[in-house]
Amino acid sequence: MIDPISGFSKLTKEQKITWLSKTYLNNSRESEEVLRQYWNENPQLQTLHDEFTENTLSNFYLPFGIAPNFLINGNLYAIPMAIEESSVIAAASKAAKYWFTRGGFNVEVLNTTKVGQVHFTYKGNLEKLERFFEICKPTLLKEVRGITKNMEKRGGGVLDIELRNKTGLMENYFQLHCKFETKDSMGANFINSCLEKFAETLRLEANSYAEFTSEEKNIEVIMSILSNFVPECIVRAEVSCPVNELADEKQEDAAGFAEKFLTAIKIAEVEPYRAVTHNKGIMNGIDAVVLATGNDFRAVEAGVHAYASRNSSYSSLTHASVENGTFKFWMEIPLALGTVGGLTNLHPLVKVALEILQKPSAKTLMEIVAVAGLAQNFAAIRSLVTTGIQQGHMKMHLMNILNQQNASKEEKNELLDYFRHHTVTHSSVADKLEHMRGLNAVK
Ligand code: MEV
Repeated sequence: MIDPISGFSKLTKEQKITWLSKTYLNNSRESEEVLRQYWNENPQLQTLHDEFTENTLSNFYLPFGIAPNFLINGNLYAIPMAIEESSVIAAASKAAKYWFTRGGFNVEVLNTTKVGQVHFTYKGNLEKLERFFEICKPTLLKEVRGITKNMEKRGGGVLDIELRNKTGLMENYFQLHCKFETKDSMGANFINSCLEKFAETLRLEANSYAEFTSEEKNIEVIMSILSNFVPECIVRAEVSCPVNELADEKQEDAAGFAEKFLTAIKIAEVEPYRAVTHNKGIMNGIDAVVLATGNDFRAVEAGVHAYASRNSSYSSLTHASVENGTFKFWMEIPLALGTVGGLTNLHPLVKVALEILQKPSAKTLMEIVAVAGLAQNFAAIRSLVTTGIQQGHMKMHLMNILNQQNASKEEKNELLDYFRHHTVTHSSVADKLEHMRGLNAVK
């Protein structure tokens, strides 16, 4: 049994590594060295990363790449993506190129309202609480002014506060359901600060409300926190073209392709097992851009999946139709993103990612991210209903297999060339490599 450690966060980075190595890594010098290998030689940059979180030991790299040729509302973008999955950037790039010649992506932000809630319990007369809330609401708004002043200058602020009776779900449970506009910031700190102030004001005002009995005065705030469910912060992305234009050198039967594509989407609409994988493919594109631009991908994931199940069954986020000879493929998703504040002003790669995107507003970033998701889904479905995904996937995965087999540069070049015309599997690569090495040993 390992003894717990106290004061770990106060140790230096070296002391932490030494403790970790002794306690969990069998004093492995090799593992310690791996942790050190990823330190940045620029001490300022390393300190910056160390200070993003507590107990930092090393840095965790992900590839940072771009998918070029995205025509979005008439503007051409190269979209930065941070992702380890081999085929994602290639698929996005392919979809971008495909739609570039078919009118590009049309995107529109439908709304940008964010939500936060003060959850509290109240034991007493409901009408009295409702009367109290109407009287108290202007004070709630006034008391939060110190926090909202700057946001209001930028056109944002508190949009509304609503008293919600949740006693049908749980005894004595009520909420202040609050709506916010946070403009170019994701707004988490702003919203949470407002909510905590609302909670404080609510308790104080209730305490001095003459109509309340002493039990009613005793409103108990359970917690105040933003919601990552943002069904009123929606962006819509769409591609469309005449069905016959769907054809290309790989897919000559445009109408057959459109029909199969629509059926694949329908399956994801009605079958949750498929919908989860279908939406996972969308999130391959979305998360990669969200991460590269310094946004909170866990928040986005939670909100998107909740939205995908808003009609009581988990379903596809994308939809498709063919009407009057026109193929249409679209998606509406909730995305609460920011282009100021948080990591966006701190992480050097995030700053570059935003520069690549021409310093977008939060709304424009919502549009770009939605397009990355739609493009990713189009590429996945297109492969799935035609060649299957393994052909492209394993080609991209080939380099991972070669690295696992410690292939040299020469071996890689030769095998990349060989597998242009042969099926990639783990064993076919290993066998071919072994064969080549055997031949070279004989020479
Ligand atoms: C793999 O990361 C994503 C896919 O499975 C998505 C899909 O099935 O639609 C290819």
